[in-house]
Amino acid sequence: MTPRPSTRNKAESPVEIVVFDTVGEAERYAATEIRSFITARREPVLGLATGRTMLKVYDWLRQWHEAGELSFAACRSFNLDEYRGLSADDPSSFASYMRRSLFDHVDMSEANYHLPDPDAPESSLAAYDLAIEKSGGLGLQLLGIGRNGHIGFNEPGADRHSLTHVVALDPSTRAANAGDFPPGVDVPTHAATMGIATILGAERILLLATGAAKSEALARAMSGPVEADCPASYLQLHDHVTVVCDREAAALLQERS
Ligand code: F6R
Repeated sequence: MTPRPSTRNKAESPVEIVVFDTVGEAERYAATEIRSFITARREPVLGLATGRTMLKVYDWLRQWHEAGELSFAACRSFNLDEYRGLSADDPSSFASYMRRSLFDHVDMSEANYHLPDPDAPESSLAAYDLAIEKSGGLGLQLLGIGRNGHIGFNEPGADRHSLTHVVALDPSTRAANAGDFPPGVDVPTHAATMGIATILGAERILLLATGAAKSEALARAMSGPVEADCPASYLQLHDHVTVVCDREAAALLQERS
């Protein structure tokens, strides 16, 4: 049975916020939205995210594929970001994460999925935006949120007009992601990431935030001013954003209805 979330009214804010009682319900809803997008489009173009928040979402997509209910054959995808200095087969790279969680298990050809080239010179990273544009543009962009309000790896101070570029990772981001690296291996200091303008160029954005650790960032992003200090607040400038979260992540959002 589909759980009934509480939804805040779109009329009061351009951002639709869907709150579930549990993390599991929020994850499943996000996966269902992606599935509906894929099945509704002839040539779906997905913007994909990595991180712990997305693991269950990709599990659902895999399961539906394995059950013969969902095909990725017509999909093209562009991931948000990749660490600089890691080869695609390094187990801690986002390329490996994506293969492990989704790509190796579904009918998507390697030619159809993309991650920014982390070691490309800064000047040629705009090619990623061009490739997105040539594919018809991002139809649905999946996002997580960092505890410091980052989206992709657009850290506090991010430029609203940025395209794909190289960023220095915030020390708090490197600390948060240290668990994805073997003991004694440092988290890279830099990454390539879609920019804020790249992300805002998507037709629709789906942000999934779960757990109490995300409540402060989510409240700043959705209820605070639009400011570079909280890059996720730029999402308020987009007219088709859905935030999916559980009660804990939603705890500090101001009631707007
Ligand atoms: C991942 C990404 C990041 C994560 C964010 C949350 O591709 O771009 O913005 O979405 O750091 O990560 P988790 O889900 O691990 O808390």
